[in-house]
Amino acid sequence: MTDLPAAGPDLACFDVDEQIRRLKRERNAVLLAHYYQESEIQEVADFVGDSLELARAAQRTKADVIVFAGVHFMAETAKILNPDRVVVVPDMEAGCSLADGCPAEAFRAWRIERPEAVAISYINCSAAVKAESDLICTSSNAAKIVQSVPADREILFAPDRHLGRYLNKTLGRKMTLWAGSCVVHEAFSLQKLLALKTRHPQAKIIAHPECEEELLERADFIGSTAGLIKYAERDPGTEYIVVTESGILHEMRKRMPAKVFIAAPPDTDCACSLCPYMRKNTPEKVFLALRDLAPRLDMPEELRRRAQKPIDRMLELS
Ligand code: 13P
Ligand code: SF4
Repeated sequence: MTDLPAAGPDLACFDVDEQIRRLKRERNAVLLAHYYQESEIQEVADFVGDSLELARAAQRTKADVIVFAGVHFMAETAKILNPDRVVVVPDMEAGCSLADGCPAEAFRAWRIERPEAVAISYINCSAAVKAESDLICTSSNAAKIVQSVPADREILFAPDRHLGRYLNKTLGRKMTLWAGSCVVHEAFSLQKLLALKTRHPQAKIIAHPECEEELLERADFIGSTAGLIKYAERDPGTEYIVVTESGILHEMRKRMPAKVFIAAPPDTDCACSLCPYMRKNTPEKVFLALRDLAPRLDMPEELRRRAQKPIDRMLELS
């Protein structure tokens, strides 16, 4: 079995990408990666996508092992859809501020206060919250999922208040919102965005719906990570200011080398916006996860079954 060499001359000769490719073959493993992963992981992955596409890829796969290079809730979704496959994650600590900010106990209590309401949860939540929900949505299909609920029914929407508010505004609904948010998308600075736009007047602003309202109001297009990529591919423009985690720029530049993509600045000194959870994963940790088939994602069967129901409803509707 190949070991990851300690720092020093041996490590310089160790081709992590090659070792990952070899282990994927040996393990009959598939490596699924989100657009927010570092570019080296995206390059060695078998499939790169947004939350909905990754859930579908996890549903389709015939591989014995799924290595999920994303965050915990995404890997959990893969396990919920694949109880008989081994699901490993490069770093078990790769959480999400939205999922962490919505504990299942508090969510259950919130639901009990409004027993008549339909509970729609954004996929960025734990399996325990999914198990308490009627429907799941992602940023790709959120509008369709919300519209599947009759207009006269009360809806509870968790955990992203920005996505929820955006849906209320665009769909004319009055969903009651959980007060969660994404630490990355809340960090973008309107002032810096406007300054950037002044320097690039031709650039279109394209943003993820997890951003704050004042930023979304300036956007030419709002969509999921896959939606932003597709928009830029179809749009005749050549320059874009991208208001989401900057890992997405790798796929954008790869698919559209003639176009210019500029990362929107956060309200800090750093010029980039990296998700601290997504970036816990490294190519070395992907290698170790494949080599050791650990850390492994498991959950009680009863919880898995309950969490699968609203995910299946989402997949049927989208
Ligand atoms: P997407 O479904 O658009 O890829 O979003 C996932 C996410 O975590 C956004 O922060
Ligand atoms: Fe969660 Fe935000 Fe990171 Fe997406 S970018 S995984 S919503 S913390």
